[in-house]
Amino acid sequence: MTPGARVKSAVAVRRLSADDYDAIMDLWQRAGLHIRPQGRDARAAFAGQMASGVQTVIGLEQDGRLIGVVVATHDARKGWINRLAVDPAHRRQGHAARLIEEAERVLHAQGIRLVAALVEDWNEASLRLLQREGYVLHRDIYYLSKRDSQDV
Ligand SMILES: CC(C)(COP(=O)(O)OP(=O)(O)OC[C@H]1O[C@@H](n2cnc3c(N)ncnc32)[C@H](O)[C@@H]1OP(=O)(O)O)[C@@H](O)C(=O)NCCC(=O)NCCS
Repeated sequence: MTPGARVKSAVAVRRLSADDYDAIMDLWQRAGLHIRPQGRDARAAFAGQMASGVQTVIGLEQDGRLIGVVVATHDARKGWINRLAVDPAHRRQGHAARLIEEAERVLHAQGIRLVAALVEDWNEASLRLLQREGYVLHRDIYYLSKRDSQDV
């Protein structure tokens, strides 16, 4: 080994809980995701989602620090890959691909046979990643939403 070279420790995969809230929000912010602190991403909202039984949060940790996260959910008919994020200092090392595979494993074990993801049209990295992971891009579908407020 080159003198001074740092040995990288292994990356561990772990199911996260409501107790990991602060680390998850910190990672999402580092990764540039838009956080809704008064809405879906509020601490109480997150705890409620975790208690719902249809949300599994998977994290990747290195040296005790969260470097990647994905939220796997389902609505009984379809599974969803949500809020996938990898720390900018750890990208292009296959971490997101691993998180997708872990999320699919969890969803399949829950009886889900169709997994989907919503991606903004400018997000080239995510579009390429998901297609490489076998997801089909539908150019004929629009996303419509109805909200109680802009915060949710
Ligand atoms: C999208 C994101 C999760 C990818 O994480 P990552 O760990 O770097 O991705 P991986 O290393 O697993 O990439 C696997 C493959 O996806 C594709 N890919 C990933 N990032 C890419 C990029 N910036 N440009 C082009 N292709 C990319 C490549 O095919 C890559 O394989 P390669 O490195 O051998 O070329 C990460 O860039 C991120 O956190 N972005 C900000 C948050 C975000 O947009 N989340 C998605 C919301 S839907």
